[in-house]
Amino acid sequence: MSVEATAPGKAILFGEHSVVYRGPAIVLAIDKRAKIIAEKRSDKRIHFDCLDMGFEGYFEGDVYVPIRGEAWRGRRLQGMRVAAWKTLEHLGQETGLSLTARSDIPVAAGLGSSAAICVATVAAVGELLGGNLSKKETCDLAYEGEKVVHGTPSGVDNNISTYGGVLRYERGESIERLELGEGLPFVIGNSRRKRSTRRLVARVKALREREPKLVDGLIDAMVGVAESGLEALKERDLRRLGDLMNINHGLLASLGVSIARLDLMVHASRGAGAYGAKLTGAGGGGCMIALLNPSKVEDIRKAIWRTRGEPHVVNISNQGVETRRIK
Ligand code: PMV
Repeated sequence: MSVEATAPGKAILFGEHSVVYRGPAIVLAIDKRAKIIAEKRSDKRIHFDCLDMGFEGYFEGDVYVPIRGEAWRGRRLQGMRVAAWKTLEHLGQETGLSLTARSDIPVAAGLGSSAAICVATVAAVGELLGGNLSKKETCDLAYEGEKVVHGTPSGVDNNISTYGGVLRYERGESIERLELGEGLPFVIGNSRRKRSTRRLVARVKALREREPKLVDGLIDAMVGVAESGLEALKERDLRRLGDLMNINHGLLASLGVSIARLDLMVHASRGAGAYGAKLTGAGGGGCMIALLNPSKVEDIRKAIWRTRGEPHVVNISNQGVETRRIK
């Protein structure tokens, strides 16, 4: 028997960086998903087939043995390995596993690919072993894998990937989930430049130490934008949402986290008729997101290609993690 689990990626609509200090982040699950197929093995190995990304190998204990691709690829698998291992431990079972990973979420772009992979791994292994895991257990076990990848992540990515929909997240408060109508079209533009969230957060912190008053003013404005943005999202007021996204991009650029390629895609999308566009996530590379009228999708896709970005048409998705037995 094998089990397939899929889980969505995410995009931050408002509140990146300001959420580190105060106020909410508004995060959307998107209809791009990671998929894991899990099967039991007769030996004790945890075997990974990530041939989409060009590698395959297995762990014996903590040691990665490559079959195809370089040995350093093993580092990429630590999150998945820990998620699988914690699930086995949680269920009190010992077995080898074959895990096949496929994903249409761009990697290292701020779209929650590692969390989606961890969530789908836990769900697939849990279902394979008849563990009947609740969503909360799945989310918590996936967080163990996320910690290996990101240190002390906020927990937003594994939450949105488990539950889907829209999350309002504020540090030190519980995560609130909203199920808003799907069918709000966005285009995400990937700059294809990898970046490190940790480094960008540190850069903003250093700027705030040098210019505390000014930076606090920008953060306060971003908090206001995020609160108003959630209202506009609930009311489906696309024009207002677009204005708020534009304002938010300007504020993020003032913090120094935009780059030329993100600015180019943002301006190209607005020029092609988007209601609004902003960088999404930590910045420094990664992605931007544009809100549009469905009739403009093709124009905006083309405009992003012309700046050498990679466009992805996405929708908000209320489908969190899902599993099915496939034979
Ligand atoms: O890693 P990303 O691109 O999803 O962005 C993280 C959002 C930040 O606010 C920049 C950092 C954080 O931990 O909230």
